[in-house]
Amino acid sequence: MRNKIIAGNWKMNKDVSQSLALVGELKKALSFDLGTTKVIICPPFTSLAAVHVLIKGTPIALGAQNMYHEDEGAFTAEISPSMLKSVGCQYVILGHSERRQYFGETNEFINKKVKKAIASDLIPIVCVGETLEEREKNITDQIVSTQVKGVLKDIPANQVEKLIIAYEPVWAIGTGKNATPQQAEDVHKLIRKLIGQLYSWSTAEQVVIQYGGSVKPDNAADLLSQPNIDGALVGGACLKADSFASIIKASVK
Ligand code: PGA
Repeated sequence: MRNKIIAGNWKMNKDVSQSLALVGELKKALSFDLGTTKVIICPPFTSLAAVHVLIKGTPIALGAQNMYHEDEGAFTAEISPSMLKSVGCQYVILGHSERRQYFGETNEFINKKVKKAIASDLIPIVCVGETLEEREKNITDQIVSTQVKGVLKDIPANQVEKLIIAYEPVWAIGTGKNATPQQAEDVHKLIRKLIGQLYSWSTAEQVVIQYGGSVKPDNAADLLSQPNIDGALVGGACLKADSFASIIKASVK
């Protein structure tokens, strides 16, 4: 049985004091019983250390939005997994479509980072998803399958079981136009089936597959009630404590 995981991707928003204010509000807003739902927040790098202090002793876990696949060295401006761990991160988003689109990240590069994150005891939230053009050309299944195979290349089953895959159709990110629950469920099912073929059905059944792309309080319950949707990766709506808390509430059984 997979538990729901709701993650907030703050993207390039909130300086340190704004981050602390948002976390303070979120702590108050999460006064209800979370049941088995896990909550992760992924603030910008500059806020991680301060936020970590504030969420100690709460059910909120910390994640980063990216990392590099080396431990240290001459890689100006990059951040290593051990640096993330030293500020309390347990999770890291990898291969977000904005990284692919604006920073040229490829499946091969993302695969290196996924392997390094796992080796460093960080749980990757690995993003995949098609563009509008690809959906209109009816090649969504092919694109998403290639991405999943690429990012998971040479990763053994016992490690795949522990990671999180986020299906985020690019056309739904930040556009206010979410995939319908059925559209999302169809792709989640495809991803699970593919993992079943690449590994085994028991591995496929353990992988958490989040949906991301304009998840809001008013569509969260319908999306999260789909059998293969195990959580959400939330962008815009996680920047307000009350809307993020409403989405989390929608996941609590
Ligand atoms: P959105 O972003 O919720 O603002 O669409 C989701 C994401 O990019 O992870």
